[in-house]
Amino acid sequence: MRIGRASETVRKCPLTFELGGEGGVLFFVDGKWFAARNRCPHQQFEKLHEGEVEGTIVTCPMHGWKFDLRSGLSVNAGGRLRMWNVVEKNGDVFVDRGEAQ
Ligand code: FES
Repeated sequence: MRIGRASETVRKCPLTFELGGEGGVLFFVDGKWFAARNRCPHQQFEKLHEGEVEGTIVTCPMHGWKFDLRSGLSVNAGGRLRMWNVVEKNGDVFVDRGEAQ
C-alpha cells in the first residue's frame, strides 16, 4: 500500500495507517523507514505511535516495554513487534504486511 510521498511522510512520523484491517505505524529513524503493526505484544494496546523514540528504540507509553525497530524484539521485556516491509521507490513510501527482513 502506498503511504505517500516520502518527503511529506517523513514529517508526519510516527505515522499511523490502516492496512488490511490492522493498524500500523511508520517510523523514520537515521535515514531508514521502519513499519510495525501498531500493537504492543504486552497488553495489545495500539499506542506505539505515542511512544518515545530514541535511536531505533521505541517505548510503549502504556507500561514502558521497549522495542528495537531493527528487529521488533523487546530489549527490556519479552515479546516482539510484528515488523512489516517498507520500501521507498521513486519518492513514494510503500508498506506491505510481509515480514521485514
Ligand atoms: S501495552 Fe505496551 S507495555 Fe504494556
